[in-house]
Amino acid sequence: MIPFNKPYLTGLETQYIEEAVKTGKISGNGIFTQKCQRFFENNYAIKKALLTTSCTDALEMCAMLINCKVGDEIIVPSYTFVSTALAFVRQGAKIVFCDSEVNNPNIDVAQIESKITSKTKAIVAVHYAGVAVDMDVVMKLAEKYNLFVIEDAAQAIDSYYKNSPLGSIGHLAAFSFHETKNIISGEGGLLAINDNRFIERAEIIWEKGTNRASFFRGEVNKYGWVDTGSSFLPSEVIAAFLWAQLEKLSEIQEKRKSIWSFYYEELKDIEAKGKLKLPEISSYATNNAHMFYVCCTNLEERTALVEKLKQNNIHAVFHYLSLHKSDYYLKENELLNLPNSDKFTDTLLRLPFYFELTKDEQKLIVDEIKNFYD
Ligand SMILES: Cc1ncc(COP(=O)(O)O)c(C=O)c1O
Repeated sequence: MIPFNKPYLTGLETQYIEEAVKTGKISGNGIFTQKCQRFFENNYAIKKALLTTSCTDALEMCAMLINCKVGDEIIVPSYTFVSTALAFVRQGAKIVFCDSEVNNPNIDVAQIESKITSKTKAIVAVHYAGVAVDMDVVMKLAEKYNLFVIEDAAQAIDSYYKNSPLGSIGHLAAFSFHETKNIISGEGGLLAINDNRFIERAEIIWEKGTNRASFFRGEVNKYGWVDTGSSFLPSEVIAAFLWAQLEKLSEIQEKRKSIWSFYYEELKDIEAKGKLKLPEISSYATNNAHMFYVCCTNLEERTALVEKLKQNNIHAVFHYLSLHKSDYYLKENELLNLPNSDKFTDTLLRLPFYFELTKDEQKLIVDEIKNFYD
């Protein structure tokens, strides 16, 4: 079976983990954590980066940092992962779902303003497949209505909006290093802080509500409980693994982009015949080759294509189920009409995508798709 995903190891992971172990400090915020955080700050114009144990954790930190609470409204696309909404729901906020664009799964920025009320506190922009949301529009709305912008950059490492790295534009942003992402640490994430007002408090929330980070820098002579927080920082074992990946980012990206281009070039004739739709990258966005997806005409066609690929030992998978139709949301809310989100729920199909996918495997996959549409 050609799997949908296969975690890629650069080969240095165990060496760096051994180094971390030998230092005698394997709890969080050690040498490897610092290296990973500096990497994001130096390469992606992020003011302050903090490693977390997941992107979900980083989003929860965002919700705490903006003091999200009962009575607040947070604007979120419906076509996204549960965590994008859940992090704010845990704080008691109401989620206001927005539809996707017609031509790509990102939030339809033209609809956001109509969702803003006096209770709105933040807009969460999810860069689906690592392709940027139109951030100028989002940031202008935030300025006009005095809102926070949080980028869910779970899939968006090494991708850009105009000339700005994703994760550096909103007040806060969250990345994921889950094993399905371009750069991995099994589970893992990073909080990006781009607004100075949040830096000091973010470190406290990260360290169980204490000022321990500042104590370790010698800024205070004892540390204690000063605010809310949790244990959001990963151990040095995770950071060492992550560093082995970040060091090879260029090589990983180059390979992923070549796989993406192969799929695109091979499948564009089927798209030209109007049978299937390929990803659209807006002129303001770059492509970080996080995933390759196709959109079928309808659910029946997608189900048949998944089956055909499965019969040929190819594992292709669909993605999010619209959150506005989830059992959890519908328990307390009316059914909304968000047709584009539903369309992507029913028609989007992700093809196998990982560093070690061979040319022969890539050819086999596109040939089976071509056969299906012949
Ligand atoms: C858009 C988005 N946000 C958040 C997450 C959660 O990431 P993690 O598994 O690192 O918590 C995911 C997971 O894939 C995601 O796709």
